[in-house]
Amino acid sequence: MGRFILNIDDEINWRKSKGLYRSRRIIESAQGPTVLINDQEYLNFSSNDYLGLANNQELKDCMIEAVKTFGIGAASSQLIVGHFKAHEQLEKNLAKFLNRDAALVFSTGYQANLAIASVLIDSNTVILQDKLNHASLIDAALLSKGKLVRYKHRDVNHLLRLLEKYKDKDLIVMTDGVFSMDGDLAPLEKISDLCKTYNALLLVDDAHGLGAIGETGAGLLECLNLNQEQVPVLIGTFGKAFGGGGAFIAGNNKLIDIFIQKARSYIYTTALLPAVAVTVDRSIELVKEASGLRQNLKSLIKYFTDNIKQVNYSSGVSNTHIQPIIIGAAEKANNISNYLYNNKIIATAIRPPTVPENTSRLRISLTAKHTTAQIDSLLNTMKQMDCAAAL
Ligand SMILES: Cc1ncc(COP(=O)(O)O)c(C=O)c1O
Repeated sequence: MGRFILNIDDEINWRKSKGLYRSRRIIESAQGPTVLINDQEYLNFSSNDYLGLANNQELKDCMIEAVKTFGIGAASSQLIVGHFKAHEQLEKNLAKFLNRDAALVFSTGYQANLAIASVLIDSNTVILQDKLNHASLIDAALLSKGKLVRYKHRDVNHLLRLLEKYKDKDLIVMTDGVFSMDGDLAPLEKISDLCKTYNALLLVDDAHGLGAIGETGAGLLECLNLNQEQVPVLIGTFGKAFGGGGAFIAGNNKLIDIFIQKARSYIYTTALLPAVAVTVDRSIELVKEASGLRQNLKSLIKYFTDNIKQVNYSSGVSNTHIQPIIIGAAEKANNISNYLYNNKIIATAIRPPTVPENTSRLRISLTAKHTTAQIDSLLNTMKQMDCAAAL
């Protein structure tokens, strides 16, 4: 209480007193299992570079060559003169990779999700979302004219009750595939069946599954064998396992066409840099062939989940590369994260509003390039910290 949004001093002080103040670290190297800060090497457990492609030599060479051809920027929105051959080629390749009719490339995943608000939702729409969806999906609903209703995390019975309650409305169900802060999986087969029964449109944002899981890296939908009819709107980003940046929506030709016509976050923004489009297009090829890296990642996940039991914290139920270590209070999560940082380990504390109250956590991101020795280092440092606290 006593907190005024326009009183900046109060707002900042309130954030500091609650352990919610956010600050940035200055990274001086490329992303990888280690990064440089202040000329010193830190173990990095906080990046989304799940396959280690952000600093891949072939992709770096590819981008340098692409800059020579296309320059450094698009200089226009896609619908004016910003739609390059690079984007066209990327969209075709993506559609093939994901087994969809077509795809549309956005500058960021946040914008791809915001586009939903202006294209697929009107005042008669009820938007049903998993409680732990990524903020960009929630923001799309809040920006739209529809009514947002959230169902309990992964709870298909709750979703069913809501579908029944709102069956006379236009319904859209939106969910993460691999959940960004918990690493667990949406029960997509059941959700898809329910959507079919209730004639609801299903949208899945698989930003964290794409590249990292599935036989060819095509994400959770590939793991579950779900086709375009079962999941009509698929969203993904290139800023995670693909190592670059940008994002896309994939689906049938009509869907993509209506996004080109109406998506405000597509129309009123400068196009994805063409050199990035060329590079992430190549990245798709590397991802397809990266079964060895995905296998490494699986082994590291098993090693982590087997060994996390040595420390006194719950790691949730995740079997994926995103492993939350649940701490609880924001201040405590900060303290632990700072202790690790002082020991040259980055495991950023994720706090409200990114995650619900009292579930602040260290979000551990494993990548195919980590080693078991690096995981040992993290867990041993946490154990030392617990011993020190007990003294
Ligand atoms: C599930 C999910 N969707 C969308 C985004 C946004 O993607 P981008 O970083 O490309 O804006 C993120 C994270 O950044 C995410 O975790």
